[in-house]
Amino acid sequence: MVRTPVCDLLDIEHPIALGGMGSASSPAMTAAVSRAGGLGAMGCHYLTPDQIRERTAATRKETNKPFGLNFLLFDVREDSFAAALDLRPAVMQFAWARPDQDLKPYFDRSHEAGCKITYMASTVKEAVRAAEAGADVIVAQGSEGGGHVGWMGAMPLIPMVVDAVGPVPVLAAGGFADGRGLVAALALGAQGILLGTRFLASVESPLHPNFKQAILDSDGHDTQLSEIPDIAAGQVWPGAMTRSRRNRFIERWAGREWFLRQNRAEAHAKLRAAREAGDIDEDPLSMGQDAGLINDIPPAGEIVSRIAREADEILSARLPKFLKT
Ligand SMILES: Cc1cc2nc3c(=O)[nH]c(=O)nc-3n(C[C@H](O)[C@H](O)[C@H](O)COP(=O)(O)O)c2cc1C
Repeated sequence: MVRTPVCDLLDIEHPIALGGMGSASSPAMTAAVSRAGGLGAMGCHYLTPDQIRERTAATRKETNKPFGLNFLLFDVREDSFAAALDLRPAVMQFAWARPDQDLKPYFDRSHEAGCKITYMASTVKEAVRAAEAGADVIVAQGSEGGGHVGWMGAMPLIPMVVDAVGPVPVLAAGGFADGRGLVAALALGAQGILLGTRFLASVESPLHPNFKQAILDSDGHDTQLSEIPDIAAGQVWPGAMTRSRRNRFIERWAGREWFLRQNRAEAHAKLRAAREAGDIDEDPLSMGQDAGLINDIPPAGEIVSRIAREADEILSARLPKFLKT
């Protein structure tokens, strides 16, 4: 069985983590990943303190295994952050601070609450800054991933981050969807992987069935990086683009971002309605290039055990054959 030191650090069985994914998170999916021996996580960024308490309680009803609560630091709500700390989650999972934001107060308060800290970085500089501020684990996220990503591909970024932040352990993210990806990440020096898109196509994922089907139908070539979803949402991210499915909505506004800004409220209202209705042409689904590797909608726990099993098979049976004795 593949087991790395980060498993002991985070008290998990398999070095496989779920990314906190805002409204695409659910207690059922979080609990399923943790129950299977991975590290579940719940996106708390847009939640009120009451919602965080309710969803954490719902997750704890389904599992007593560790899981993380995820916050985007660049516009974190103090009341929601404080509510999360009061719940003493095993892990506080952070991402996307502003470059001028001091990470230490958030990390120190999390440590005082007994939490381990993971911080997702898309550049070496950001990874080093988080490690120096006391993060227990760095997530190095490549631009292949779904949702908000930076500019560096996972292949060069991961070993660069590993070299820069060692001995702090690194999880690899962005484009990982199976056991081959886990083994590749280990070869690059990471101690495990964090996945988003793969879990969106799971039984417990809260996505509308049409969006799950769009992931299955994707060959991985139909995503693009764009600021259009954030312009529509009226949010300025510190240096991120969104990787989402290229659809009619994106094509309508590409090159006319100024016009989208002018008509933002109306466009955003339509986009929300499209999400509710499962209209894949009018809501740009955040998904990674690894959608091309995803062909089924299993329970989230099965995804964890399948990745662990595949990695084990590759390491114990396939790769040793390449070693000359
Ligand atoms: C729909 C969606 C929403 C996401 N929301 C968040 C979020 O709120 N916080 C966060 O840290 N990462 C978020 N991410 C990024 C994931 O944590 C992870 O880094 C990414 O999905 C990895 O790439 P993959 O999709 O190829 O697995 C999101 C990703 C997706 C697909």
